[in-house]
Amino acid sequence: MADLTLQHTVREWLADPEGNAALTEMLAAQGQTTKALAPVKRMSFEKLIKVSRGKFSREAADQLVEQVRAAKAAGGTTAPATSPGSGAATGDTRAETPEPAEFVEEITPGRFTGQTVVVTGAASGIGRATASRVAREGGRVVAVDMTAAGLEELRAELGGSGRLPDGAEIVPVTADITDDAGVARILEAAGGSVHGLANVAGIMDRFAAVHTVDDATWDRVFAVNVTGTMKLMRAVVPGMLAAAEGRIVNVSSEAGLRGSASGAAYTASKHAVVGLTKNAAFMYTGTGVRVNAVAPGGVATGMSPQDVDEFGMGRVQSAMGLMADIAVPEQLAASISFLLSADSTNINGQVLASDGGWSAA
Ligand SMILES: NC(=O)c1ccc[n+]([C@@H]2O[C@H](COP(=O)([O-])OP(=O)(O)OC[C@H]3O[C@@H](n4cnc5c(N)ncnc54)[C@H](O)[C@@H]3O)[C@@H](O)[C@H]2O)c1
Repeated sequence: MADLTLQHTVREWLADPEGNAALTEMLAAQGQTTKALAPVKRMSFEKLIKVSRGKFSREAADQLVEQVRAAKAAGGTTAPATSPGSGAATGDTRAETPEPAEFVEEITPGRFTGQTVVVTGAASGIGRATASRVAREGGRVVAVDMTAAGLEELRAELGGSGRLPDGAEIVPVTADITDDAGVARILEAAGGSVHGLANVAGIMDRFAAVHTVDDATWDRVFAVNVTGTMKLMRAVVPGMLAAAEGRIVNVSSEAGLRGSASGAAYTASKHAVVGLTKNAAFMYTGTGVRVNAVAPGGVATGMSPQDVDEFGMGRVQSAMGLMADIAVPEQLAASISFLLSADSTNINGQVLASDGGWSAA
C-alpha cells in the first residue's frame, strides 16, 4: 500500500504491514494489543484524534505517519500483513464488506418548538450533544452541569454562530444535581412548565468488584447517578402531572443491563436507574407523563475511569470481545431526543439500548 495518512481508517492501518507494526509498538508501550482498537476500527485517524479528546493526539498520529513512511522507504517491515478487511487484528472475523456510511446528524426543524427541556450533564459528551440538538430543533434548553466553562462554550457555539431558531435558547445553570439548592435553581431557571427532562449527568466508578469497592466511590456514584436523577425527576413531575404532559429520559448504561460492563458501584447504580425509570413509568401510566431510559454502549466522551482497579478491569476486559463500534455523542443524542419528543408516544417504561448491538451479543 502507498503511504498511510490520517484519512485512512484504523482497519486500513492494521491491514498494512508497516502500519500494523507501528500501531502494535505504540500499544505495547501502553501494555495493550491491537485488539483494543476493535471498537474504533472503522474510524479514520482524523476522526479518532477528534473523538479521543487528547488521548490520541495529532502529534502522536503525525509521528505514526512519519514512522510508517520511513519504514516503507527503508524497504518495509517483515511483520506479517493482515489482509484488508479481514479484521484479524481486531477480532472481527467477517469477510470483507463495504464500510457503512458514518452517522450524519439530521435536524428535525421545530421538533421542540415551544418546549422547555432540562438537560443535565450538558457541558460534555452525551449531555452536551443532546442539549445542542434539542436547542437546534427549537427548544428552550435549561443546560445543567457542575462545569460552568463547558456550558458557556456550548452557549457561545450555538448562539455565536446564529444557529438557533426563534424561541430556542440555551439557559446555562451551574449546579450539582445532588444538591437540593442546585435542583431548586434548575427549576427556577426552567420557569413555568418543563416539557422534557434528560437526566444525562453521571460518573463512572473505578471498576472495583464488591470486595474492593471503597465507600467514597460507592457513595458518590450513587449520589450522582441515582439520587441526583431521582431529585430532578421529583422536582419536575408535579408540574408535568398538572399539565398532563411530560417526557423524562434517564441515562442508564450497558452496565444497567448486565453485570460485565463496569465495577460494582456503577453497575448497581445503573441498574437502579432502570428500576427508577420503570417504577415512575408504572406510577404515572395514563397521566401524559412518560418515563424511559437509554442504555448507551461505548461512547467517545470526556468520561474515563481514574485510579482503575486492576482485578475488576481485567474481568471486564475479558468480557468485552464482542463490543460494537464506539459511538459518537451525537448518536446518543439522536436516541435521547427521540424519546424526549412526541414521536415516542406510546413508549413508556422502556430501556432503549443504544449500543450498536452490543447488548444483543
Ligand atoms: N461514555 C460512555 O461510554 C457511556 C456509556 C454508558 C453510559 N454512559 C452514561 O452517559 C451519561 C453521560 O456520560 P458522558 O459519557 O457524556 O460523560 P461526560 O463525563 O463527558 O459528561 C458527564 C457530565 O456530567 C457532569 N456531571 C457529573 N456529575 C454531576 C453532578 N453531580 N451535577 C451536575 N453535573 C454533573 C460532568 O461535569 C460532565 O460534564 C452518564 O450518565 C454515563 O454514565 C456513558
